[in-house]
Amino acid sequence: MADATPHHDDDSLTHGKTFPPPADFQARARCASMEDYDRMWHRSVHDTDEFWGERAKDLVWIKPPTKTLEYTWDSEGRTIEHTWFADGVLNVSANCLDRHLGTPKADKIAYLWQGDDDAEVKTLTYAELHREVCKFANVLKGLGIQKGDRVCIYMPMILELPIAMLACARIGAIHSVVFGGFSADAISGRVQDSSCKLLITANVGLRGGKHIHLKNIADEALRDTPTIENVVVVNRAEEECGWVDGRDHWYHELMADAIPDCEPEPMNAEDPLYILYTSGSTGKPKGVVHTSAGYLLHVKLTHEYTFDVRDDDIYWCGADIGWVTGHSYIVYGPLANGTTNLLFEGIPTYPDPGRMWQVIEKHKATILYTAPTAIRALNRSGDEWPKKYDLSSLRLLGSVGEPINPEAWLWYHDNIGGGRCPIVDTWWQTETGGHMITPLPGAHTLKPGSASRPFFGVYPAVLRDDGSECARGEKGKLCIRKPWPGMMRTTWGDHDRFMDVYFTAFKDLYFTSDACRIDEDGDYWLLGRVDDVANVSGHLIGTAEVEHALVGHPAVAEAAVTDIHHDIKGRCLYVFVTLVDGAEESDTLRGELREEVSKHVGPIAKPDHIQFAPGLPKTRSGKIMRRILRKIAEGEVGSIGDTTTLADPAVVDQLVAKRAEMKGLPAPQGAAEGFCKDTPKTS
Ligand code: PRX
Repeated sequence: MADATPHHDDDSLTHGKTFPPPADFQARARCASMEDYDRMWHRSVHDTDEFWGERAKDLVWIKPPTKTLEYTWDSEGRTIEHTWFADGVLNVSANCLDRHLGTPKADKIAYLWQGDDDAEVKTLTYAELHREVCKFANVLKGLGIQKGDRVCIYMPMILELPIAMLACARIGAIHSVVFGGFSADAISGRVQDSSCKLLITANVGLRGGKHIHLKNIADEALRDTPTIENVVVVNRAEEECGWVDGRDHWYHELMADAIPDCEPEPMNAEDPLYILYTSGSTGKPKGVVHTSAGYLLHVKLTHEYTFDVRDDDIYWCGADIGWVTGHSYIVYGPLANGTTNLLFEGIPTYPDPGRMWQVIEKHKATILYTAPTAIRALNRSGDEWPKKYDLSSLRLLGSVGEPINPEAWLWYHDNIGGGRCPIVDTWWQTETGGHMITPLPGAHTLKPGSASRPFFGVYPAVLRDDGSECARGEKGKLCIRKPWPGMMRTTWGDHDRFMDVYFTAFKDLYFTSDACRIDEDGDYWLLGRVDDVANVSGHLIGTAEVEHALVGHPAVAEAAVTDIHHDIKGRCLYVFVTLVDGAEESDTLRGELREEVSKHVGPIAKPDHIQFAPGLPKTRSGKIMRRILRKIAEGEVGSIGDTTTLADPAVVDQLVAKRAEMKGLPAPQGAAEGFCKDTPKTS
């Protein structure tokens, strides 16, 4: 959004402290020096055919490609197209499973599943996973699913979730996973947008000792999704759920007589693998489309290099598979590399804030990849929790989803990594498929709060609004100059939207919507979103969607949503609500409005702060000045800037006064009067 939080950009906290690659990584890593990195990166963006032609051999092909990258990025001519390995044929599930059969990896554990309840643990070897996937692929075929059909998956973190995804990939169906924390409205919107034919869910999901009735939520969503013909339900725990005869089927019953052999469907490199919805700054969420070969190669390669994965690793990515991090780094990347994945059903704070550390000790995890929000929350719970457990198995830590502030970085490094584990701060997006800017642990000297350097194939530019390049140290907007293999191809069913969102701000370049600066050494510092999307606890929330939900409440005339700094979540939502005549301001109404947002968008989007506003700051043409609202919400009233263009400048004083009555907010900084003229936007 307009002004990114400055907190993580402040390296004064670390006194410029840097962390060179540990000797073990320098001795063993795949990319073990800055020289190696520079040489490889240079080739990857300048000798594309040669570099990526060679790397394509890392995949198992039914028909190897003769082509690498072909593309046209012409914003003015309205042609944005790119393909990778366009004449190759392969199957993604075969690349994740069959390639390991007949090798020692067949009997290696692919998934080590730790239930919400400590007593529940299950494992699947690569051979066993292959068998389950083949069986479920046959189940899907039996239910009429064919190549190209869309399948919605709404599931908790159980083994059947990656099985379902891989089974889709095996028969060429396109999965659309909807995060298990989303509401019925969010499911139906996504199912409708991509006309899914089948939905896979579970009767309940178990998280933090609670039972979440996923099937019942799905049933509500399915009231207005006529394209869904069948629903497959996993019985996660003995619990009742709604049932529609003929439409609903138990997973275990279908699997009981399914045949464990299923030839992988030959897929063109550019056939879609999945759709994953992500919030946008306007309208409904966008269906990001990822295709087969380029995506798989990108996630395989990044997983291998960023985490410097070794054969004996017990790798734990703590994300939910419902987000892109889970797709790329719990399913496709690690499986293609034959890694043992820890799959965790629970939450970091149940039964107590030591849970993550207990899981690491119990399963001897060697790599932990998690989000700054979790790190900050666990830091806040106290150092005594990690101290109770033996974390000596860890050798590498990762961070993803939001900027990590140096304090959290250092706590993670010292208290979890014992001062010996490098931290890879990976910047990327749902749209990018895999890591884009990240340290490589054997090559890069780490700076807390910096994501280091672009990955192979990623050619970034940090630009001013006029398209000129920022100087070193100057904050600008992050763009990418040419396609990389894992890049999204389009937004489902709406290529115009894809071009509008990503290719209009800067001519012929992909615009990330992130602010960034490159320091004197050439290291990248990611500084948060510059669009109307809030990053709350690492989850992107479109402010327009939240506004839409709020105005759906009969007491609300108008709503404007902004986001402010939050010590744990990074950012949190702060909304301004104007009520209809006669409606009363009250905490009860605040509660109802939060529920309204939870129902339509999802619990993660519940606003932290709701300020009733007699009016909103608007220009004479009626446009809400969000920049001003953000300043008021942040309490930065001294730098509100020019208000002379407002239809009614007095609104600002009223809002500032009302904010002073809000509970649980830091005191405003600076006086309300004497606004300095036209504070330039920093991003
Ligand atoms: O603003 C950036 C932030 O998260 C956005 C992408 O969110 P999403 O598509 O949900 O994907 C999350 C998982 C990759 C980005 O535009 N972001 C992600 N990783 C980082 C980050 N910001 C700073 N540092 C990161 N490491």
